[in-house]
Order: sequence, then C-alpha cells, then structure tokens
Amino acid sequence: MTTTPSSPVPLGMPQPPAPQYPAEVRRRLEADAREIIARYPGSRSALLPLLHLVQAEEGHVTRTGMAFCAELLELTTAEVTAVATFYTMYRRKPSGDYQVGVCTNTLCAVMGGDAIFDELKAHLGVGNDETTADGKVTLEHIECNAACDYAPVVMVNWEFFDNQTPETAKRLVDDLRAGRPVEPTRGAPLCTYQETSRILAGFPDSREGAVAASGGAGHASLTGLRLAKGEAPGRIVRPRDGAHREEPPQPGSQHLSSHDAPQSTSASDPAHPAGPETGPTDKEGE
Ligand code: FES
Repeated sequence: MTTTPSSPVPLGMPQPPAPQYPAEVRRRLEADAREIIARYPGSRSALLPLLHLVQAEEGHVTRTGMAFCAELLELTTAEVTAVATFYTMYRRKPSGDYQVGVCTNTLCAVMGGDAIFDELKAHLGVGNDETTADGKVTLEHIECNAACDYAPVVMVNWEFFDNQTPETAKRLVDDLRAGRPVEPTRGAPLCTYQETSRILAGFPDSREGAVAASGGAGHASLTGLRLAKGEAPGRIVRPRDGAHREEPPQPGSQHLSSHDAPQSTSASDPAHPAGPETGPTDKEGE
C-alpha cells in the first residue's frame, strides 16, 4: 500500500493548512471515497469509513487525511477532527505494522492481562502507545473487547489471541517482529494495520479464504446461550419464576465454563490454566 510522508496530528495550537495529497494519491483516494460515499443516503454518514480509508493510506489519520475527508463530505475540519480524536481505532501518530493491544480491563486484568502488559513493556522496551524501533509493533493497553470468556485476551490489529500468558504473548510479538506467520485464535488471518484499515473502510478482503475464516462466535461465547436454551444441563439454573434448583449432570454433558476456549492455535498457550480445548471452535463450524 502506498504511503505518503506526513506529520502526526497535532492538537492544541493553530496550524497552517494541511498539505494536499500528491495528485496520483488524491485521484486514487477520491475514487475510493466516492464509492464509499455512494453507499449512504447522507454523505456525512461516510465519515467513519473515510477515516479508515485515509488511515489505510498513511498508517494513521493525518491532518491531510482529515482535510480530505472534510472536503469530500462538506464538513468542517473541526467536525472531522472531533470524530477522529474520539475513537481509539484511529491513530493520530505514526505507529507500527502491528497494533498489539493487551486487554487490561477488569476480568482480563485479574486473569493475567496486567502481567502480560508489564512483561511486554519490558520485553519490547516500549511503554503504552509506543512503537518498537523497527516500526513493527505498537503496544497499547485496551479496554474490554467483549471476549471476557477467553481472558486474558490480546488483540493484534483487532484479531483475537485468546487465553494468553506472558510467555505466549512474548512469543507472539517476537514472531510478528521476525516476520514469522502467526494465526489468530479466531477470525480472519492477520494482516497489517494499513490493510486492516482498508477492510474496515468497507473494501472486500480479497485474500483467499479470509472471509470464510471469519467464522462466528466461539464455544465459550455460546455457553450462556446453550444454558438459556437448556442445552447445557448440569449447572445451577435460575428460572424467571424465582425458583432455584440444581440440575444433575446428564450423560455426555460436560462442564462448560470460561475455560472452554480453543487452545489449538499457534498463539494460545497449552499450559494455560484454562487447560485443553473441550469444545468445538468457531473454525470447526461453531
Ligand atoms: S475484560 Fe478483557 S475482553 Fe472483556
């Protein structure tokens, strides 16, 4: 993907007008932007995907990118800046090919997320929201990514790496920096942050098998649903009538818990306290 040099997005003091994209880049981006805008009844609704589009171009949302969005959507740069600085999925400074986010929200934190984050900071020699000298990895702590049943979770470019330990997380970043292939626990294969941004802008993921690999909810995520449907007996059941009864385990049933996460990928740690996989994964048609 082509990149253009640009400075970080400054906040605070007034700035001179942002430089324009080079003519060829502008032509290409404008064609993509028009395609995105045409999907919406009102052009301003296209702002979020357009910000992903300009982020795909340069790796972060620059002043040039925001001015481009404002011009095409007939918004003010202040309106675009307000959105771009609100959402954490838009970077505002140059960063690495791989955004490694360690969930340090409550559940992941107590399950080991804090330890993972501390060890990665020491291992990589960077702090929160900082990038390794080789430009490969940006480390950040992230809030809950709705994968608490696979805690502690690490995300790379928004793909899930479940049930991590400090050792697997260090191996993960080492592999990323060395260019060795890594496989998310669930979802599509990993790509760079700029490639991910283009997909988030609404363009198809053209990599072979990527869409099919996206899968659905994992085994542990569906446990509550199975309990609600009565398909997973052997647990405490609290019906809505307020009664409380304990159902005996049925033949063939198994204890479904947050520790049912898949353990079979390169990144999950077989020695994790969650233990071995006990249920089907989304990649197996879940
Ligand atoms: S607390 Fe980490 S995914 Fe929810």
